[in-house]
Amino acid sequence: MDDFIAQLPKAELHLHIEGTLEPELAFALAEKNKITLPFKSVDEMRAAYNFSDLQSFLDLYYASISVVQTEEDFHDLTLAYLKKAASQNVRHTEIFFDPQSHTARNIPMGTVINGITAALREAQSELGVSSKLILSFLRHLSEAAAMETLQQALPFRDQFIGIGLDSSELGHPPSKFVNVFEEVRRQGFRVVCHAGEEGPPEYINEALDQLHAERIDHGVRCMEDAALVKRLAEEQIPLTVCPLSNVRLCVFKTMSDHTIKQMMDAGLLVTVNSDDPPYFGGYVNENYQAIQEAFGLTREDLVQLARNSFTAAFLSDEEKQKLI
Ligand code: ADE
Ligand code: ZN
Repeated sequence: MDDFIAQLPKAELHLHIEGTLEPELAFALAEKNKITLPFKSVDEMRAAYNFSDLQSFLDLYYASISVVQTEEDFHDLTLAYLKKAASQNVRHTEIFFDPQSHTARNIPMGTVINGITAALREAQSELGVSSKLILSFLRHLSEAAAMETLQQALPFRDQFIGIGLDSSELGHPPSKFVNVFEEVRRQGFRVVCHAGEEGPPEYINEALDQLHAERIDHGVRCMEDAALVKRLAEEQIPLTVCPLSNVRLCVFKTMSDHTIKQMMDAGLLVTVNSDDPPYFGGYVNENYQAIQEAFGLTREDLVQLARNSFTAAFLSDEEKQKLI
């Protein structure tokens, strides 16, 4: 089955570029940029990837990204992920970036976006992987800060297609960002939103009704609300599920406790993604493998999941034809 998964053409729709920093690259960049990481070695850094919840992960995720500073660093980080994606037969990827975690360190918006997009172009021409970029607001910060970030990003608007909402979910509902997402939509961007990862089903409803999100990132807690499941199934709203992430962040105790198979059986448009792969122990193929083993998924199930990933992508039918 692992070979079958490996050769399936896939799209990855839930991936934070900051969360692709492998410890080896972190140490190389720390040395280059003269920054001291709070770990003595790559092994020690990897051993710290032991989380009790989303916040315990985010604390390390934001601290580690301090080593990425120049346009070249953003390029190298992004290209390393895209090479890995290409090796797993990922044909298309929609990548999140968190500009506020960089502008807060006085790194200009252009440094971040230009570095990332240089790598996306290179991957398209040299690896045949197509990509789109999605800017994410940090929801633990204010709506005013999100609005300012949007304004800073508008000069680069041709380099990203959508806007999402990530970071600490509990206590920061989508409704906090209604005004900024109204402006996001007025500017013509696609809208996605992390909701129902740690937060309640109500946050998923808010993301749909108040932000007009077209895709829900995670969304696993929808299963606690039968009316919401019915709605998500009827409207075929894509859910970008990240199984290894959910287990490593203790949303589910073990992979056998994950509800992804129930979600598929309920007729939801489920996709499989890696979120922050080195932190959670696997890229996209390892996520497919983990759920295949836990639930005995058939080849047909796996093909359906891979097909869903293209259905849910922000690509035209013509673009999709070229990829598969
Ligand atoms: N940022 C990076 N990974 C995230 C996740 N799983 N949830 C919320 N914000 C994130
Ligand atoms: Zn995420």
